[in-house]
Parts: sequence; structure tokens; C-alpha cells
Amino acid sequence: MNITFSKPSYPSTGGLIALTAESSGLMPSAAKLDRKMRGSLKRAMNAEGFTGKRGQFLVVLAPTGLRADRVVLVGIGKAETFDSSAAEKLGGRVVGQLKSMGVSHAALITDPISASPLETSSIAAHLACGASLRSYLFGRYKTKRPKVPKIRLRKLTIMTSNPSKARSEYRPLAGIVKGVFFTRDLVSEPANVLFPVELAERAKTLKDDGVKVEVLTATKMRELGMGALLGVAQGSAREPRMVVMQWNGAPDQADQTPVAFVGKGVTFDTGGISIKPSSGMEDMKWDMGGAGVVIGLMRALAQRKAKTNSVGVVGLVENMPSGSAQRPGDIVTSMSGQTIEVLNTDAEGRLVLADALWYTHNRFKPRFIVDLATLTGAIIVSLGTERAGLFCNNKELSQQLMAAGDTVGEKLWPMPIDDAYDTDIDCDIADMKNIGSGRGAGSVTAAKFLQRFVNRTPWAHLDIAGVTWSKKELTLVPKGGTGFGVRLLDRLVAENYETP
Ligand code: BES
Ligand code: MN
Ligand code: ZN
Repeated sequence: MNITFSKPSYPSTGGLIALTAESSGLMPSAAKLDRKMRGSLKRAMNAEGFTGKRGQFLVVLAPTGLRADRVVLVGIGKAETFDSSAAEKLGGRVVGQLKSMGVSHAALITDPISASPLETSSIAAHLACGASLRSYLFGRYKTKRPKVPKIRLRKLTIMTSNPSKARSEYRPLAGIVKGVFFTRDLVSEPANVLFPVELAERAKTLKDDGVKVEVLTATKMRELGMGALLGVAQGSAREPRMVVMQWNGAPDQADQTPVAFVGKGVTFDTGGISIKPSSGMEDMKWDMGGAGVVIGLMRALAQRKAKTNSVGVVGLVENMPSGSAQRPGDIVTSMSGQTIEVLNTDAEGRLVLADALWYTHNRFKPRFIVDLATLTGAIIVSLGTERAGLFCNNKELSQQLMAAGDTVGEKLWPMPIDDAYDTDIDCDIADMKNIGSGRGAGSVTAAKFLQRFVNRTPWAHLDIAGVTWSKKELTLVPKGGTGFGVRLLDRLVAENYETP
């Protein structure tokens, strides 16, 4: 979908959208429109019980005299609480509504809302951002037009008194949207197309944004002693990779110590020799979701030229059963020197992350590491698809993450990492085993495993297994890959780790 900003005018086709605050009468543009429609807008409002509640819609066929096809009133709710995230959500809802109406072009008028904490140009920019996020479509593999041509929303014009100001406020937001879309594209790709080498190739396109990208091959990883990651990869015909991305946007006089993000990139997880049941296994194409977020985040930071130094590291493997696959009971030596008894080859994400985390803190000594992984089915049992699990060894970082999540609507929930859980992965014949002894707290033992590879670095682990893929449309997300984490971590950086 194409989004443009312009001065208010009456569009010649499509939908004309105006905003209305809750129970405060029509805003100037809507009032003007109502006069042009000789009062029929107000009559329709009364007849339909439209009061301007946030997200409420009123659709009226445009009368003669207007060249648009339809007039849509949108409730923004109480103006005082109409902040940037409310504006984004509303933008998303507007696109949802337009899609269901089968409208291909629409224009939305924004008025100054005096009671709102936002200026008109920011309202316009955030509406555009939300609209754009909702409009995403992964259409690469559709070669035929549907029989009944369903019109797609192609163009949204946001009309505002100062379009150039709105446009410049939208620019960094558009950068973030690009990052989110990149993540969604990667997550949506099937595993026959997106295997480790190909995912590394896609990450290399970040060079165009000014990101430094290094790719470690299997040989290099063997030299570094990454036995945990390589053990997972050995059953696959696809070679593993590790990608190291650096965005250096901090000004010279600022602290150059980077922040770091690490992602699980299992391009397909069959479970290995501890093979998964076939039903639903196709979902495991998005077991590289953590890596997808890290790569999209690096794009977002670079696109909006974030004044920060940031490192992204992703471990890329395919987990397959084969004659060369690792067996349950195999013992591997990780880059840290710690040995691991692999009791379940389906608990592979932690093995990949063990080496990626160790490499990251060892090489970069970052201010913190946040890792993201579709790590456990157990987190879906705990939190469903609403929130991601947050495991953290640092109070400040945990508070910053919670706050960032609440702001952008990618919400987290704190999970425990007490020392008492740690003994569960102690092992008789190696330093640790890759699954817990009991049946409980599977997400926690997985996090405790990871913690053994970050020492005292401030660290947070986000288990995103429940939020990476959506089976239904959400306000800012069509069905499919969500990109959950990109906006959250972009916000974390913007609020706390950027030179003003
Ligand atoms: N990739 C899965 C976790 C997962 C499950 C992600 C469902 C998304 C949706 C992970 O590698 C895995 O298989 N975990 C096992 C761990 C167990 C063997 C200790 C699990 O959750 O069952
Ligand atoms: Mn697995
Ligand atoms: Zn997995």
C-alpha cells in the first residue's frame, strides 16, 4: 500500500474518512462535510448510534455532490488519551475496515485535536504508521489472480494542514515499518527457499543501509569451537551460518560500547532424531523468528539512523534427522568450553543460542544482550499468544523492556529465573543436559540453560514462540508473521540507549 500526505481536498473516488472524538460533536472537517451532505452525516450518526467511541465506524454512501464513493466516520474516543499508540492502532483499524469494504483508494482527513497530547502532524504520521503495518501482504507466491477479483487497498492519502511536517515525522516510523516488513518476509518464507545460507544472504542486504555484515561459515565456527551449534547443524544437508551485524550510529563523543541482540535462527525444526509429530510441523518454518527479528531490528535502527551502536548476532541452522544427525545422548563441547549432554535433539534452540550468546558477550562486551527465540512450546501453555515471556537477570533492563512493550503494544510478562531452577539441568556425566529432569517449567529451564552462557552480562531472553505467528488478523498485523519484537526493541533503544 502506498501512503502519501497532502493538504485537505475532496477526493475524486474511493473512500473519504473523517475522525470524530467521543461525544464532542463533529470535528471541523467532518462538520464541513456534513454541511456539504446537507446534514445527512449527522442523521446517520443518530440513526446508527455512532458516538465516536474509539474504533467505532460509520459508513455512509456518498450522496450526489461528493465525488468520493463512500464517507467513513471513525471514532477516536476520548481526545485526551489519543496518544501515538492510540493513533497507530486506529490507523490499523481503518485499514482493516477499508479492506473489508473492498475499497482501493481512500483519503483520511486529520484535524487538530486540541485535547490530544499529539500535534496534528504526529497524529497524521502515527496513523500512517499503523495503517502501513496492517496493510502488509506476503504475496510472492500467488501467481494467479483470485476468480472474483477482490480489490486491494492500494493507496491511502493522509490529508493534513502541514503535509511536509507530517512527512518528516513519518520518515523514522517508515524506517521501523521497513524493518518489521523485512522480518515478516523472512518469517513467511518456506524452508525450501530460506535455509541458513539464504538467510545469511538476505541479511547481507543490510549493507545497503550502512550495516556492517560478517558471515561465519561452518569452518570458521569449527575453529571457534562452536560444538553446540554445529551439533544441531550436522544432520542437515544445508550448511549452517552465523551472521554478525553492526550498526554504528553513536556520535564520536558518546560511549561506544554497543548493545547486543541475539536471535535463534532454526530455518526448519523437525526435532531431529527426537522427531516431532507430523501434524503442525509446517509451523517450524518460522523457528527462525528470533533471528528474523534481530535482522529486521538492525534494518529499522539503520533506516532511522539511530544514534547508538548496536550488534546483532544470529545462529542459523536447520534441525534435521539423518544418518549424520546427532543422537540423543551425544555430548558436545560449546565454545564456552562447557559440555552438554544432548538428551533431546528437539531442544536445539538453546544449543544454537549457547554458542551465539557466548560469542557475543565474549567478543563485544556489550552493555546488555537481549536474545529472542521461538524456544519452547511451554511458553504458549503459560502465556498463550498475547504476551511473550521475559526472563531477565537485571532489574533495570527488565523494567525498560516491560515499558517499551507496553508502549508499542508488544507486551511481555516477567517469568522467574531463580537459582533453584538451575540444578534441574545439572548432569551426571557432562556440565549440563539440554532438558530439565522434571516435566514442569520447561520455559524456565530453557532460560536457565541460556543464562549459563552469558555470565554476568545484563541479559534478557524473550521467548517469542507464542507471538511470532498469528492465525488471526490483529489490529496492526495481518495473518501470518507478526514481526513481534522489532518495534519493542527499537523503542527500548530509542528510550534508553540513544544519544539525544
Ligand atoms: N521450536 C520449538 C519450540 C516451539 C514450539 C516454537 C511450538 C513454536 C511453536 C523448540 O525447538 C522445541 O522443540 N522445544 C521443545 C523443547 C523440549 C524438547 C524440551 C518443546 O517445546 O517441546
Ligand atoms: Mn525443537
Ligand atoms: Zn526449535
